[in-house]
Amino acid sequence: MKALITAGGRGTRLRPITHTRNKHLIPIANKPILHYALEYVAEAGIREAGIIVNADSDEVQRALGDGSRWGLRLRYIPQEAPLGLAHCIKISREFLGDEPFVFYLGDNMVVGGIRRFVEEFRSRGSNCHLTLSRVRDPERFGVPEIRGDRIVSVEEKPAAPKSGYAVAGIYLYDRTVFEAVDAIRPSARGELEISDVHQWLLEHGRRVTFTEMTGWWKDTGLPDDLLEANRLILDHMPARENAGASVEGNSTLVGRVILEPGARVVNSNIRGPVIIGERTVVEDSYIGPFTAIHHDCLIRRSEVEFSIVLANCRIEEIGIRIEGSLLGFDARLLQARGKPKTHRFILGDQGTVEIA
Ligand code: G1P
Repeated sequence: MKALITAGGRGTRLRPITHTRNKHLIPIANKPILHYALEYVAEAGIREAGIIVNADSDEVQRALGDGSRWGLRLRYIPQEAPLGLAHCIKISREFLGDEPFVFYLGDNMVVGGIRRFVEEFRSRGSNCHLTLSRVRDPERFGVPEIRGDRIVSVEEKPAAPKSGYAVAGIYLYDRTVFEAVDAIRPSARGELEISDVHQWLLEHGRRVTFTEMTGWWKDTGLPDDLLEANRLILDHMPARENAGASVEGNSTLVGRVILEPGARVVNSNIRGPVIIGERTVVEDSYIGPFTAIHHDCLIRRSEVEFSIVLANCRIEEIGIRIEGSLLGFDARLLQARGKPKTHRFILGDQGTVEIA
């Protein structure tokens, strides 16, 4: 079995963070989103993966290398234009050959891995196995219509959804998928839709099965959505030994607090679940639940809760608790010195500030 993982697109809905970085490389709980996909694929016993990348960038290649870190052999497959998910399968025909494969949208995050879906696909002898998740807003997704224990139709972003489920971005196929991919035509938005592939398979009597899953997340483009993914992952993260980190002075750590090597906590109060990255220093501060602080940050005399702070940030002497926030790489939040006493902002394109 092989894997095909998408890692292209422009991530316009996650700006400003995606101005400088492919959205698949944004860290959630201190790990790039795409690493979760690679780990889960490797854990399911797969050894070869194709990665769909933007044809005009090598950012993903530089970040992942040859895949040996995960015990995977990676092949990069450039997509010239965003022509749809079925188009991704089409251009990967030669790489995939006749083997069954898992098609994994690299911006989807799922708790607990994908092994169970692979096993179900195999044991049920399906042509196509889908993963479904209950959502509040099915009209934003591919939506199945279910009768009894069978899917009878799938529609892409329907105005009147026929169920409360979304088809999540982890799909399993055998080679019959190529017949469908070749038969369908572009949709109104000009894309070869993956939902049209599923509809074709159903209409042509192929065996389409599904697993209902919990603990699934897909970006919708607001900082709150990244915070929600961060919460989901931190909530399920097993405790680790905090080797190579130090807790000094009058510090207290409560609940699951993961300190990566070189992290230093000095005279601070940390309430998990929290992860603090390599070489980050937290001093005279409070870090509250569901916070991920990435590598090489400095937090001094400040309070941060339910937030994501990316690498190289500095937060110093901020007199009010920072909450529900997303700080991009190299951001600075500092106390203003001197007169007049003012708020001063040097804010990137499409940034947001809310002041109490
Ligand atoms: C795509 C698919 C949709 C699926 C979703 C899951 O949507 O077209 O069927 O439910 O991924 O992530 P898009 O990312 O294009 O909005």
